[in-house]
Amino acid sequence: MQWHKVECGSVDSTNDEAKRIARSYDGFIAVRADSQTAGRGQYGRKWMSPPGKNLLATFSVPKPMIMAPELLSLNIGAGLQKLLVKYSINAHCKWPNDVLVSGHKIAGILIEQIGKRYNIGIGLNCNWPEKRLSGETGILITGIMAETGIHVDISGIFNETGTIVYECLTSTAEDILERYRAAWNGTGRKIQVCIDAQWIPGIIRDIQKDGSLSVTTETQGESVITSSTQIKPGVE
Ligand code: BTN
Repeated sequence: MQWHKVECGSVDSTNDEAKRIARSYDGFIAVRADSQTAGRGQYGRKWMSPPGKNLLATFSVPKPMIMAPELLSLNIGAGLQKLLVKYSINAHCKWPNDVLVSGHKIAGILIEQIGKRYNIGIGLNCNWPEKRLSGETGILITGIMAETGIHVDISGIFNETGTIVYECLTSTAEDILERYRAAWNGTGRKIQVCIDAQWIPGIIRDIQKDGSLSVTTETQGESVITSSTQIKPGVE
């Protein structure tokens, strides 16, 4: 596999650093930083991480290298779930961009399309010593160390993640959906869907071929939601 790999100390965001590097390199770019001063998460949130503890990385890929770009976030989520199996962690995917262990977030994915490239930003919690409630986001988080006691070599897991991302690029849509459904335990789950700033109770039905989610809500009946819509767990 041919890739341009950069590991640095502090950057604003690895997604932005990848964007700058892509001005001079074609092909697959992999950027990792020890820390970020302006790390971004989904829905305009910040992504905070203490220096050197976790994987903060972006893989920047030209669109033609990706066989099923519409399913990229699901594909990468399923890939991270597979990576965690190597660490004996039984994780599952939470649609559309998260990877959880028993309800605690272990990894998040932020994909940004910049011109003809996709920047796949991955935050994977590695050397958190314990499960805890994140003060910044109010969500429960965990990490590989908290789950297993193993101290993770961050450069090593960066390489492993890069290999997984690279392999994902040539997955077909059918293969991605099959792998995602196996890594996801969503069907039949009670959720709440944010529609017009209101949280509405619903039940997940399935993942559609384009990666959107079909749900049934009390007020809207059967509907399909895309990854720009926020969901959160319902009351089981
Ligand atoms: C989420 O909200 O769950 C997505 C988090 C993505 C965070 C990663 S850390 C590396 C990359 N650089 C960023 O600024 N964000 C992503």
